Amino acid sequence: MALIDIIKQRKSTRKYLDKPIAREDIIKCIEAARLSPSADNIQPWRFIVIDDAEYKKKFCAEVLTGIFRRTRFIEKAAVIVVLVAKTHLIVHRIGKRVVKTDVQLLDMGISGEHIVLQAQELGIGTCWINMFNPKRAKKFLNLSSNYRVISLIAMGYPAEGGTKDRRDLSLEDIMFFNKDSRHRL
Ligand SMILES: Cc1cc2nc3c(=O)[nH]c(=O)nc-3n(C[C@H](O)[C@H](O)[C@H](O)COP(=O)(O)O)c2cc1C
Repeated sequence: MALIDIIKQRKSTRKYLDKPIAREDIIKCIEAARLSPSADNIQPWRFIVIDDAEYKKKFCAEVLTGIFRRTRFIEKAAVIVVLVAKTHLIVHRIGKRVVKTDVQLLDMGISGEHIVLQAQELGIGTCWINMFNPKRAKKFLNLSSNYRVISLIAMGYPAEGGTKDRRDLSLEDIMFFNKDSRHRL
């Protein structure tokens, strides 16, 4: 399938079939992430793949408390991928002070979307999740201080009614050639 068709098919999936995802397919998704571009080729990404039912339950109970309870739907996802970034002293800590851009976050976003698109090609639904407690996740996962929990991606075969239609901005709203952006942004 052409990439644009995979992109058009993708929707955040919040209801999942009770069907496991083969490790082979999970690995294909992580492989797609592994090949992402990153600032200074640091490759800060690490992916913790939670596909054990008991461990997933414990993880969700820990990180989806209080205001994050509404994210409990991911307990039913076959897999939760925890996106963890390793912090590089020069590029991430010092570089951020100079350039002001959080390239670590950009790198993680790119690699995560590679997971999402590869999953889509395999017929697996995904949902990016930032409504969870990253501090509790870091503690639960026993990560050392130079690792940062960035996001989760829930993965599962889509069940009916698990996606929503959305209103998309038009190209006119978002794209500006040359000086066209003046007085419009
Ligand atoms: C960085 C990021 C964080 C998100 N966090 C959540 C979340 O915590 N819970 C949730 O249900 N959806 C979450 N989403 C999904 C968005 O709500 C969804 O992408 C958006 O509404 C557009 O819908 P679509 O993905 O179906 O096209 C997140 C998406 C992104 C990119």
